Amino acid sequence: MKKVFITRRIPQNGINMLRDKGYEVDISSNESPLTQEEFITFLKSKPYDGVLCMLSDRIDAKVFDAAPSVRIFSNYAIGFDNFDIVEAKKRGVYLTNTPHGGVDRVAEHTWALILALTCRIVEGDTYTREGKYTGFDPMLLQGMKVSGKVLGLIGAGRIGTEVARIGASGFGMRVAYYDIVRNEKIEELQNVTYWPTIEDVLKQSDIVSIHVPLIASTRHLIDAERLKLMKESSFIVNTSRGAVIDETALVEALKTGAIMGAGLDVFEYEPGLTSGLTDLKNVIVTPHIASSTAEARQDMARMSATNIIELFENGRPIDVIQ
Ligand code: GLV
Repeated sequence: MKKVFITRRIPQNGINMLRDKGYEVDISSNESPLTQEEFITFLKSKPYDGVLCMLSDRIDAKVFDAAPSVRIFSNYAIGFDNFDIVEAKKRGVYLTNTPHGGVDRVAEHTWALILALTCRIVEGDTYTREGKYTGFDPMLLQGMKVSGKVLGLIGAGRIGTEVARIGASGFGMRVAYYDIVRNEKIEELQNVTYWPTIEDVLKQSDIVSIHVPLIASTRHLIDAERLKLMKESSFIVNTSRGAVIDETALVEALKTGAIMGAGLDVFEYEPGLTSGLTDLKNVIVTPHIASSTAEARQDMARMSATNIIELFENGRPIDVIQ
């Protein structure tokens, strides 16, 4: 009987799929992500065949050493920067992700952050709750309309493409995207253009949205120098991975008014926040919930369980990273 360990409670549909195959399934009952020590203790407790893990679980040499029987680490996430791919390759261990899980929802959340920033929703809510609203004021909390403005996308995969579609067709925005490879699908959309450098996108956009994976070449892709290129009236939104932006440089840019505001669902030292970030009124933060709907989370449970089942029943998972 195959033994599978799930590192965090997930929607029941994924658990049922594994149990229906007759697998023995153990689930961590921790209310927070496992520390690597706790994770390793679990892994050593039984000869597991597969692990369904979270983006917060670092899967590296230490983990592989503690779990020599595990043939697959199936990430419950689109991103996979928590995997040491080189080490997995050496050991012939499969790594998988859920590339289609919650794509449209992450795009919606990106738009929620853009609109919340430009309509000053959080500031307005706080102001009203605090009893400060004394009557209509033409000068109160002026925001920025997005219609007709330039939306700059850094990264144009599935999520970036959906964000572009909403911006171009919903708000009549001009969309400029930069990616290391051109994406024919995004270019089929009206008003979407490829710009050959990040610098151009940063200089000319009113809203910049980040949609690249975190890999060595994208760590601090948006650093102090590049933040300086952005317009003072512009906003930046990040629903990809926190470390793509140098968060210390971002706090500085927001503090000094070098840019107008930021909407972040991800953080460089997640779950930690860079000092000063949440003191700023021109920042909206959400706790890595961009794909958090019941549908998306069930889809991710199905996809991550399917990858394990496909390996054990048919010899190869579907969404193989390595
Ligand atoms: C969430 O951040 C994911 O990668 O799915």
